[in-house]
Amino acid sequence: MEIKCIGILTSGGDAPGMNAAIRAVTRSAIYNGFVVKGIYRGYRGLITDEIVEFKTNNVSNIIQQGGTILKTARSQEFMTVEGRKQAYETLQKEAIDALVVIGGDGSLTGARIFAQEFNFPIVGLPGTIDNDLYGTDITIGYDTALNTIMDAVDKIRDTATSHERLFFIEVMGRDAGFLALNGAIAAGAEAAIIPEIFTEVDQLEELIKNGFRKSKNSSIVLVAESEMTGGALGMAERVKKEYPQYDVRVTILGHIQRGGSPTASDRILASRMGAAAIEALLEDQRNVMIGIRDDKIVYVPFSQAIKNDKPINRELLNTLRILSI
Ligand code: F6P
Repeated sequence: MEIKCIGILTSGGDAPGMNAAIRAVTRSAIYNGFVVKGIYRGYRGLITDEIVEFKTNNVSNIIQQGGTILKTARSQEFMTVEGRKQAYETLQKEAIDALVVIGGDGSLTGARIFAQEFNFPIVGLPGTIDNDLYGTDITIGYDTALNTIMDAVDKIRDTATSHERLFFIEVMGRDAGFLALNGAIAAGAEAAIIPEIFTEVDQLEELIKNGFRKSKNSSIVLVAESEMTGGALGMAERVKKEYPQYDVRVTILGHIQRGGSPTASDRILASRMGAAAIEALLEDQRNVMIGIRDDKIVYVPFSQAIKNDKPINRELLNTLRILSI
């Protein structure tokens, strides 16, 4: 079937750079002669028909804005067959022939199921601060979140040093340690506690054993949010019990990590990926996520992007260990 009209939506947790992606998809689509429709509130808007045609000026002045002008949601209804049927009916009613979905793991899982059930063309863009999608070196929003973490840790370091305290700072990542590990390197923290190696070593014990405070009067440890690690609060509880000599404090950075104006890297990444999504549809690609590997655009089948756990780079762990002596 010839594609004439492309729908675009953002879904799941928002990420800085989503607006730059919306702009790129919209303008590339119009440039190539497609009609574009913006779908509000993710899959929920597909079910409730919250759809508006987008012209080039609907996406003016948004490249620098955090969040998503299309709003986002985590739709429970779309997880049901009934909900997806309704979504399909809306697409037919709106004469939308293909979708570009910007989101993380859960959103692309939804896209994959929907594409299979209704034989509907979908291209995904990896939009998540977590950087946990397989097949792409980096996801939209990750770099901005990393910079936000770095700025926050820089500030906490001032007070940590003055009081000679041990700080556990919890960062987001939904069971992935990319933000914690690279955030720790960028901010010069003493360690990162991440779920990927949780079963291999007792990271807290290793940290204490290595005499992490010997040469220092304060310490900062980034902890990836995860049930496995118990988060920063879990770590602090353990220290209070097992090593009561330390003066411990906890900061949970929370949703501050999801906001803010995207960095240049995120804007460029989102712009390239948005244009690539339209290119992919023109090349008759279906059910793939746009990725970037070694600075080249790649097409990653949804099945690969979602199913596989993206490995952390162990060289980074080692670098962090060496540099925190
Ligand atoms: O997936 C992005 C993310 O920010 C995760 O890092 C975090 O676990 C989750 O979303 C929080 O989701 P919510 O904003 O729905 O609480």
